[in-house]
Amino acid sequence: MNFKLKIKEEKNSFEKENKVVWQSPSNIALIKYWGKKEKQIPQNASVSFTLSESYTETEIVYSKKESNNKIEIKFLFEEKDNELFEKKIVKFLNYVLKYFPFLTKLNLTIKSKNSFPHSAGIASSASSMSALALCLCSIEKKHYDSLKTNDTFYRKASFIARLGSGSAARSVFPFAASWGKHADLYNSSNKFASILPFNLHENFKSYNDAILIISKKEKQVSSTAGHNLMKNHPFAKQRYKLANKKLQILLNALQNGDLDGFIEVVEDEALTLHSLMMSSNPGFILIEPNTLAVIEKIRNYRKINNSKLCFTLDAGPNIHLLYPDNEEDSVFEFIKNDLQNYCENRFWISDKIGKGPFEINKQNA
Ligand code: DP6
Repeated sequence: MNFKLKIKEEKNSFEKENKVVWQSPSNIALIKYWGKKEKQIPQNASVSFTLSESYTETEIVYSKKESNNKIEIKFLFEEKDNELFEKKIVKFLNYVLKYFPFLTKLNLTIKSKNSFPHSAGIASSASSMSALALCLCSIEKKHYDSLKTNDTFYRKASFIARLGSGSAARSVFPFAASWGKHADLYNSSNKFASILPFNLHENFKSYNDAILIISKKEKQVSSTAGHNLMKNHPFAKQRYKLANKKLQILLNALQNGDLDGFIEVVEDEALTLHSLMMSSNPGFILIEPNTLAVIEKIRNYRKINNSKLCFTLDAGPNIHLLYPDNEEDSVFEFIKNDLQNYCENRFWISDKIGKGPFEINKQNA
C-alpha cells in the first residue's frame, strides 16, 4: 500500500478557514515493542489494549496561504505556547510532507491537550502522535478524493502515527490492536497496526487498567534511546523470537478468555522488558523500590483472594494494574487501603479498555 497522496485536484478548496479535531487514546502494550530498525520498523510484533480515559485532544485550524514550500505552524499545548513541542511538530510535519503535500499551502494552528497531567509520568507520545496523524488524514479526506473507506483512512493514520512514535500506530484502533508482521496475524504489517482479527473474549471486553503513578519523574532514558540499546544487546535475537512466541500465547488467551494464561504471559513480558533494560550496555534501571513492593503485593493479593488481578509496566516505574470488571470494587479497596500509599502524592488513574479515537467536531470553524 502506498500512502502518498497522488491526487492533485482538490475536491474542496482550501479557501475558507476550516477545522479538524480528534480525541485519541493512549494504549498499554501487553507484548512490548522494544527494539526497532529505521523509521520505527519493529523488531517483533506487539499487542496492546487501547485505553479510554488517558487521551490527547488535538485540533488543527487551517487556512490557505501563499505556498512558500515551508511548513509554518502555531502550536499551543494546554493553551500555552510551547516552543520545544512546536519544533518537534514542525520536524515531524516536514518528515511526513511527502504523504500530505498540501501542508505547505496552509497556515496551521495546532492546539493539543491531554486528559492526564503532563508531568504524571505517563508517556503521551502514543495519544498525541495518533491524534495528530488522525487530524492530518481528516484534512486529506476533506479536500481530496482519497481515504474514502475506513480501512484506508485508519491504515494511513496508523502508518503516519508510527512515523511519529512506534507505539502510536496501535492507538488508532478500538479495544486491542497488534502491530508488526506475525505469522498468526493475517495481513499484519510492520508499517501500520490493525485491530485484532477476532472478537475479544467476553472476559476481556471491558478489562480495567488502574495506572499507579509510582513516580512522576522524567525518565532518565528515553524510549528511543532504549530501543537503540537493543541493537547490540546480547539477548536481542532470542528476545525477538520469544516475543513472537509469547504473542501467539497471548492471542489464544484473548480469544478463549483464558485469564490465567493472560496473567502469566503479561507479567512475564513486563519483567522481560525491564530485564532487557538492565542487561543493555550501558544498562539502566527504571523501576523503583516501590514498583517492586507493589508487584509483591499484587502477587500476594492474587493468591489470597483468588483474584485475576495482574500487572504490566511500560518503560518507567509506574504500574498498570489489569483486572476484570467483576473485581472492580475489591480492587478499588485494595488500591485505596494499600497500594495508593506507594504512589507519588497517592496519585493513580482509573482507566479501562476503550473504543478508540473519535472525531469531535465535524463542523467548519
Ligand atoms: C515500552 O513508541 O515510545 O512502551 O518509537 O522511539 O517513539 P519510539 O518509542 P515508543 O516505545 C514504546 C515502548 C514501550 C512498549 C510498547 O508500547 O510497545
